[in-house]
Amino acid sequence: VIDIRKLYSDAGVFTYDPGFTSTASCDSTITFIDGAKGELLHRGYPIDQLAGKSHYLEVCYLLLYGELPSAEQLEIFESTITRHTMLHEQMVNFFRGFRRDAHPMAVMVGVVGAMSAFYHDSTDISDPYQREVASHRLIAKMPTIAAWAYKYSVGQPFVYPRNDLSYAANFLHMCFAVPAEEYVVDPILARAMDRIFTLHADHEQNASTSTVRLASSSGANPFACVAAGIACLWGPAHGGANQACLEMLKEIGTPDQIPEYIARAKDKNDPFRLMGFGHRVYKNFDPRATVMKQSADEVLDLLGVENNPILATAKELEKQALADPYFTEKKLFPNVDFYSGIILEAMGFPTSMFTPIFALSRTVGWVSQWKEMLNDPQNKIGRPRQLYLGNTQRDYVDIENR
Ligand code: ACO
Repeated sequence: VIDIRKLYSDAGVFTYDPGFTSTASCDSTITFIDGAKGELLHRGYPIDQLAGKSHYLEVCYLLLYGELPSAEQLEIFESTITRHTMLHEQMVNFFRGFRRDAHPMAVMVGVVGAMSAFYHDSTDISDPYQREVASHRLIAKMPTIAAWAYKYSVGQPFVYPRNDLSYAANFLHMCFAVPAEEYVVDPILARAMDRIFTLHADHEQNASTSTVRLASSSGANPFACVAAGIACLWGPAHGGANQACLEMLKEIGTPDQIPEYIARAKDKNDPFRLMGFGHRVYKNFDPRATVMKQSADEVLDLLGVENNPILATAKELEKQALADPYFTEKKLFPNVDFYSGIILEAMGFPTSMFTPIFALSRTVGWVSQWKEMLNDPQNKIGRPRQLYLGNTQRDYVDIENR
């Protein structure tokens, strides 16, 4: 037992909560999650209704401004975002400075951080107009940045945004169009892409969003804060999970290997975990996983990938894990990443693009939370305390006496 009053002379109320499992870092009106019920609401609207009836840019508006837009408001918002999709031409040189085989996430962290060097006129956070422009620029330019990071990694020329296409269709166009061939975006794939964006748009105070808030609590500019969020998202326990999940499904290979992997996941001496299973907040089905599962069926159907072995393995793994008391007792259910990787791969994305796509989808969440924080009169610099377990004061020992 540590007597905190002996450790710190100024000890008042002191909580020790590694991983923030029961400490709120802020108040917010954006997203509500009831993990036990498996409920996710944006500004009060259930995620399955938004994924089914709305589309990404409308959800962006909702997250940013708190209400669903009227038809006129939506038109103005969509055309504003569309007008900002181009990147400054000088940024092409910046992309070219990266190693040819750089991971697209490494490129995104660098390029988004560097936006503060290219767009000075929207870095003054004390000016509401500049804040607004920065948020539009981030949402609009992120698909271009992610697509160009991809194009660079495969050695193809950059494809410029097309403002006659929807947000999702334009992203697919920038990723998959090549100069020598005509590329027409399939509306079903554009819809599936839009749904992936929508399902990842915000998720209250997850690690990357908390990173954005903490970075911005010092007054850092929005591009630097979002770059910090992207860096955090890169980790396999967060945004990297769908890549890790798909790799795991491929490693499992066929349904007959599943029992071996389930046994490994349960073995405390084996660090292996079932990727795409479990969530810090959801102790029930992740509502996003249910929508994602339907989308996986639709996309694979469209692409004629009948009897897709990875999807078959995923479905069987889900079935066997949910029949196992280890997973049900620990409340480990499939999360959003369990099926998203299968869809993205079927669309033609390499695994290295999975996390960049998550980052571009989550940008609106980061930006909405950042704006909310700046408008909060209680906003102050984030400065967690620590529980110090090191040596107490002692005297310096000269090197010859050590
Ligand atoms: N497979 C096997 N066992 C697991 C798994 C899993 N995927 N997840 C948790 N457990 C076990 C742990 O071993 C632990 O067991 P114990 O109580 O016997 O020690 C118990 O369940 C609780 O695990 P914690 O790590 O303490 O739970 P936490 O809430 O901190 O972790 C996390 C949540 C990181 C998501 C975890 O479930 C995990 O690593 N899952 C796999 C990675 C993944 O899919 N991440 C995506 C998250 S969703 C997103 O970022 C969009």
